[in-house]
Amino acid sequence: MPGTEKVDPTSVPRAFDEHARSYDKLVGSNPGYHEHLRLSARRMGLGRGAGLRLLDLGCGTGASTAALLDAAPGAQVTAVDASAEMLAQARRKNWPPGVRFVHSRLEDLDRVGVTGPFDGILAAYLVRNLRDRDAGLARMYDLLAPGAPLAVHEYSVRDSFRSRLKWNLVCGMVIIPLGTLRTGSSDLYRYLRRSVLAFDGVETFTGRMSTAGFEDIRVQTMDGWQTHVVHTFLGRRPGPPADDPLLDPEVAEIETPPEGVPAV
Ligand SMILES: C[S@@+](CC[C@H](N)C(=O)[O-])C[C@H]1O[C@@H](n2cnc3c(N)ncnc32)[C@H](O)[C@@H]1O
Repeated sequence: MPGTEKVDPTSVPRAFDEHARSYDKLVGSNPGYHEHLRLSARRMGLGRGAGLRLLDLGCGTGASTAALLDAAPGAQVTAVDASAEMLAQARRKNWPPGVRFVHSRLEDLDRVGVTGPFDGILAAYLVRNLRDRDAGLARMYDLLAPGAPLAVHEYSVRDSFRSRLKWNLVCGMVIIPLGTLRTGSSDLYRYLRRSVLAFDGVETFTGRMSTAGFEDIRVQTMDGWQTHVVHTFLGRRPGPPADDPLLDPEVAEIETPPEGVPAV
C-alpha cells in the first residue's frame, strides 16, 4: 500500500513520485524556501549566465531550476531527477527553450548521455538522499568543467545542538503535521526529519568535498528559521574557467615576460 513503507535512500525517488502533486504547495508554505534556493544559485557567481551550460541535479518539480534561471537567465539548464512524477510536475510549467528535463538517477547519467562538462552544478536537497555521498561528489566533479562551481544546498544540523533542537521543533510542530494533513501520509516527512539528523555536519561534509578534489570550499547559511540549518556548500573544480584568456596559448605567450625581465 503506498505511503506505509518506511522511506530509505533506495526508495526516495519512489516516495517523491507519491508526493509530487502536493510538493509545490508544501514547499510554498515554507517561508524562504524559494528565496534561499535563489540565494544559493546567486552564490555560484555565474554572472548573467550567457552561453553557460548548467546542471540542476535532483531538480524535482523545478524549484531549483527556476532559481538557477533567476541567477543566470542566459544559461542553458539540464535538469535531472530520478522521480518521473516530480519531473512531470516540472514539465507542466513554462520554461525558456534552453531548459531540458532528463529522467535519470545521478548515478546513471552516463547511460542517458548526460556527460558534461557543465559550467556549474546546483544540487538542492539531493546529496543527503544519495546512497554513497562520496561517489556522488566524485561524479559531480567529473561532470564539471575546470574552474566551474558546485553548490550543494542542504540541511546540516549535526555540528550544533541549537540547530538540531530547532530542526526537531520545526519538524515536530510544523513539517510532519502539515505534510501529513496535506497528503494523508507522514512517511516522507518522517524520513526528512531522520535523514537530516543523520546527515553530515558542516565539517564532515566540507571534508568530503575536499577529498573529492574540490577547492575554494566555502559554507554560507540562510536567514529566518533556516539559519545554521540550511547551508550553501560551495566548491570549485580546480583549474581556470574555460574562457580564461590565460588558457589561450597565444595570450599566455604574450603575457610571459622574457627571461630576466621581472614580472610586474
Ligand atoms: C527534496 S527534492 C528537491 C527538489 C528540488 N531540487 C528543490 O529544491 O525543490 C529531492 C529530489 O531529488 C531526487 N533524487 C533523489 N535521489 C536521486 C538520485 N540518486 N538521482 C537523481 N535524483 C534523485 C528526488 O526524486 C527528488 O525529486
